[in-house]
Amino acid sequence: MIMAGNITVMKAGTVIVGMQWGDEGKAKILDAMLEDERFDVVARYQGGANAGHTIWHNGKKHVCHLIPSGILHPDVTNVMGNGMVIHIPSLLKEVDEARAAGGDPDNKLMISSRATIVLDYHIKKDSEGSGVGSTAKGIGPAYTSVADRSAVKVQDILDDTALRAALERFRQKNPGADIEKDWLELREARPKIGHMVNDTAHYLYQQLRNNNSVLFEGAQATMLDKDHGTFPYVTSSNPTAGGACTGCGVGPTCIDDVVGIMKAYVTRVGRGPFPTELGGEKSAEHCEEKTHVLRFELDMFGIPYSLDEKDRPMYEPQDPKILDMLRSNDDFTKGVAMRLLGGEYGASTGRPRRCGNQDLVVANYAIEINGIRHVALTKLDVLDNHEEILVATAYTDPKTGETLDHMPDRRDVFERVEPVYKRLQYGPASEKVAGCTSWDKLPDRAKRYVEFMEKFMDRPIKYVSTAAERDCMIVR
Ligand code: IMP
Repeated sequence: MIMAGNITVMKAGTVIVGMQWGDEGKAKILDAMLEDERFDVVARYQGGANAGHTIWHNGKKHVCHLIPSGILHPDVTNVMGNGMVIHIPSLLKEVDEARAAGGDPDNKLMISSRATIVLDYHIKKDSEGSGVGSTAKGIGPAYTSVADRSAVKVQDILDDTALRAALERFRQKNPGADIEKDWLELREARPKIGHMVNDTAHYLYQQLRNNNSVLFEGAQATMLDKDHGTFPYVTSSNPTAGGACTGCGVGPTCIDDVVGIMKAYVTRVGRGPFPTELGGEKSAEHCEEKTHVLRFELDMFGIPYSLDEKDRPMYEPQDPKILDMLRSNDDFTKGVAMRLLGGEYGASTGRPRRCGNQDLVVANYAIEINGIRHVALTKLDVLDNHEEILVATAYTDPKTGETLDHMPDRRDVFERVEPVYKRLQYGPASEKVAGCTSWDKLPDRAKRYVEFMEKFMDRPIKYVSTAAERDCMIVR
């Protein structure tokens, strides 16, 4: 804490936010930032088990859905903010997994007493179909319960009388809700997580006052934000940087940096407009099919694979067939090749992610809405076999013929726009980005692409991720 005149100037935190439609690799960047800059606290501010944040620890893959991504760092305290919606049985499973992976959730995890509980009713309701291709984890219905004031809060777990009253109030507001399963599960959870429940807003305030640094972790991304994303094809919270304030209970003056994460190309899961999608409507419909998982696509294009001990297909991303598909004149086929090269299949559902060309109109919109100061670029290595890359720098509206260099606010316009592409020559494929750890050694073609984006976005790209492994990262 510093005194400036009569005013106390507190330490301010940093927000990490996705700039596209999610799955940008935020957890890997967060991990690099924890190494590079040292943070005392990681605080997650919204969403629930709809997220999947992959971290690598001692060479092993660890996926967090609810728990913040700093859990395996021994010196970091992890806060689940009041803006989160938490399915307690899933949390218990994750707490066990974190312990098994070497984390210390009993001492290093804090759950906001004001966070919301996802009940069995919410999951059932979400499974009936949201119309937007939701993850069916009960997220939308749980946030609805906050808005209609029937939600059960984490603090209600702490006491039988409070829990019964909260569940009864919920049942009254939601006739037909069966609360007995929740009652048993939540009571059982009390001794396991009760000691982690805390007034986390006050804790964060104290941390910042004591000059400790806080990293606010967003889940999902800008274009899935319920207010600023492609409504109604969005999640039900605010992943944008402002969500860190409401979702953790800190004031705007407690944040002084926002790091935006973007892939070197774009993906989207679920329904909704996506102007640079390779294969357009055909791709969107194909990816909506629940059965069109990785194995289906490998069979569809006759790509050889073997099965591992858990019956999961293993294939060679550099398979000549995949590289041929990338050179195809058919955009849909190119999109499938991109998916195979990037391993773009949902971690929990196995659903194929829709793939598309880079979109800097979306990126600039994310910069504007979030106040992004630095950018981190992920999965640059996935473009290694491209001879040319297409980058959208504007849209045209086919109805009016107008060129739009800014994200349209009207959804009917965004649904029909066509990208205006800058084509960047990207050969030769012999110069590989994969595994590169220094800017100096990065191939010139990749440097040109990164510098082109920096100039267009008017923001420095500070981190460049060059493969899935933890060390494959360039910090500039
Ligand atoms: P919900 O968040 O489960 O309600 O889903 C709403 C929309 O957000 C759907 O299109 C989901 O596919 C998408 N979505 C939710 N979480 C993620 C995520 O972590 N990554 C990518 N898309 C997501």
